[in-house]
Amino acid sequence: MANTLTIKDNRTNKEFTIPIENDTVKATDLRQIKVKDDDFGMMTYDPAYMNTASCKSKITFIDGDKGILEYRGYPIDQIAEKCSYLDTAYLVLNGELPNSAQSKEWTDAVTHHTMVHENMKKIIDGFNYDAHPMGLLTSTLAALSTYYPKAKNVLDEKERKLNILRLIAKVPTLAAYAYRHRMGLPYVSPDNDLSYCGNFLSMMFKMSEPKYRPNPDIERALDVLFILHADHEQNCSTSAMRNIGSAQSDPYVSAAGGAAALYGPLHGGANEAVLRMLDEIGSLDKVPAFVREVKEGKGEKRLMGFGHRVYKNYDPRAKIIKKMADKVFSLTGKNPKLDIALELERIALQDDYFVKRKLYPNVDFYSGLIYQALKFPVDMFPVLFAIPRMSGWLSQWQEMLVDADQKITRPRQVYLGARNRAVP
Ligand code: CMC
Repeated sequence: MANTLTIKDNRTNKEFTIPIENDTVKATDLRQIKVKDDDFGMMTYDPAYMNTASCKSKITFIDGDKGILEYRGYPIDQIAEKCSYLDTAYLVLNGELPNSAQSKEWTDAVTHHTMVHENMKKIIDGFNYDAHPMGLLTSTLAALSTYYPKAKNVLDEKERKLNILRLIAKVPTLAAYAYRHRMGLPYVSPDNDLSYCGNFLSMMFKMSEPKYRPNPDIERALDVLFILHADHEQNCSTSAMRNIGSAQSDPYVSAAGGAAALYGPLHGGANEAVLRMLDEIGSLDKVPAFVREVKEGKGEKRLMGFGHRVYKNYDPRAKIIKKMADKVFSLTGKNPKLDIALELERIALQDDYFVKRKLYPNVDFYSGLIYQALKFPVDMFPVLFAIPRMSGWLSQWQEMLVDADQKITRPRQVYLGARNRAVP
């Protein structure tokens, strides 16, 4: 009887033995537990999926207590040190790092799919001048679906791969166009001579010079930030993408759903919220009062960039970003808000409230300070998260589609409302 779980239902005194696989039990195995034969049977109640595995995955491993993050078995710090973002995206998508021929072929293919239909500019022009770029990105990702009607054939592997390639290639273009619209600047076409990040910087910041030449250190810093954001297993936006994709919707609208989830301040919008919080605090001497307000607010006011559903230790991505910040600031000049952030972290990590709840800085705590030093406006921060997370969304979406265990997502509910009322 090893690897089984025996449950006794004290309502009926009946015992049930159900299999354990990978330290989990199947929720549907509980359905045999009933009081009466015509009962629906036992379900699990798990709002926010606090303790429910929704899939089996081989993409990203996280040990939240130890602060470990691995893509396809490789520790994040090694990937950040030795790989490019595009090779990381290849790894996340395909399970293996590319050899040099594969890397060249993949990079070349991505480079040659970066353009978007000219009409996309007209769609973007329809937005208000001050539209949030994340709203634009979400909308233009969905709009891409209409240009590629064959993308609906999600079970066709060749079609799937082509649309994965298109999405990885075009997301920086859409992101940069959203920014240019916001700034009232002309759109800049992709430059095939540049790297993935170099081209993105060119599409963002090129002015009247004939050729934009990115600073190689800044290009690499952005590449590392992209690596750190590539995937994070079943987070809110990835689960949204899997959920939408489970209806066999095409990857463009599914990714738009992922982006919509990422927009929220508790998820990818947190990097933006951190900067706004640091602005609100304003100076070092106001940090203790702010921390006090957070504690007294009892969840009403949060320390943005702190805490994580899975990490109950220092987020390993935050560690890498914190180290990288010095290098970036040596090129760009220090972000004056860094001292407030460091003081906030110092006080919070000694404070019982945060220690007891295991609230540590997460990836968003320092990333915004770097983005700001690189001259990205604050409302572009969640967009900068979405660009690399596209590789994670697509890998997880693809894994879901070929997984024989998966079906259209359709949770149950515990209905507690009225029944059988007569309409007067
Ligand atoms: N500041 C102050 N208190 C907090 C914070 C915070 N940032 N995060 C959690 N708590 C408290 C919370 O009030 C609760 O206290 P109590 O037990 O007294 O009610 C306890 O800690 C547990 O919080 P929770 O809301 O049950 O935890 P969760 O796992 O549902 O939330 C979280 C995770 C990330 C949404 C949350 O920590 C949070 O809101 N953090 C701030 C937003 C943020 O930085 N988000 C980025 C996450 S990392 C990047 C990403 O995945 O997108």
